[in-house]
Amino acid sequence: MSEPVRVAAVVPAAGRGERLGPGLPKALRELSGVPMLVHAVRALSQARRVSLVVVAAPPDDVAEVQSLLDVHLTGPAELLVVPGGRTRQDSVRIALQALPDDVSVVLVHDAARPLVPSELVDAVAAAVCAGSPAVVPCLPLADTVKRADAAGRVVETLRRDELRAIQTPQGFRREVLVRAHAAPTAGPVTDDAGMVEALGVPVLLIAGDDEAFKVTRPLDLVLAEAVLARRRAAGVR
Ligand code: CTP
Ligand code: MG
Repeated sequence: MSEPVRVAAVVPAAGRGERLGPGLPKALRELSGVPMLVHAVRALSQARRVSLVVVAAPPDDVAEVQSLLDVHLTGPAELLVVPGGRTRQDSVRIALQALPDDVSVVLVHDAARPLVPSELVDAVAAAVCAGSPAVVPCLPLADTVKRADAAGRVVETLRRDELRAIQTPQGFRREVLVRAHAAPTAGPVTDDAGMVEALGVPVLLIAGDDEAFKVTRPLDLVLAEAVLARRRAAGVR
């Protein structure tokens, strides 16, 4: 792609955060006094290549999310808030439908990965702009992974050196991602690249970042606060 490209980020943020325990929807839970979603949108909008961020908010909290972002974010990136859907896949599809025509590259980033470095966002965008139709950041696994049956017995041990843990943002040519979301899916979908793979489109892996971890369970909040404390001590933000 040599013509100028407009890059937008889509942020699924409409989940409840069941695994985090009772409380506000996960994206609105605070880290160092600032909602997780605000951290995530700030990182995206600070990436040089991102000029628009579309947030799929919890459907009951659209107005609150809009005003939170208005209060906390000042910068050149444009912001749009839409009501999310029943599943992550629905939320991404609804946000895609809100994109203006001139966007040709889309990054999908979980609100639940609030501490993603802006450098990783730009690296994913750059790889798509350089010609890859789909790009995902990954890390090697720390744990060994086994396949299990319903009775709780091990069926198989997978080779760890062949496995990768996948993060977001995942980057796509817009047309590829839209096509993937229009196609029927078999089984549960946990990431957008999986739907693109099902179309037979090649997906490029690039190096992820430890700080792009997903806040899923309570202990992840402790890690996130520690990362923020380390950044403050280093004079970052
Ligand atoms: N998500 C969404 N719409 C949904 C469900 C999830 O936009 N209907 C978003 C979440 O807000 C999150 C991302 O998808 O940013 C990844 O999902 P996950 O980590 O599973 O978050 P939750 O679904 O909120 O958490 P849980 O599964 O523990 O309820
Ligand atoms: Mg979920």
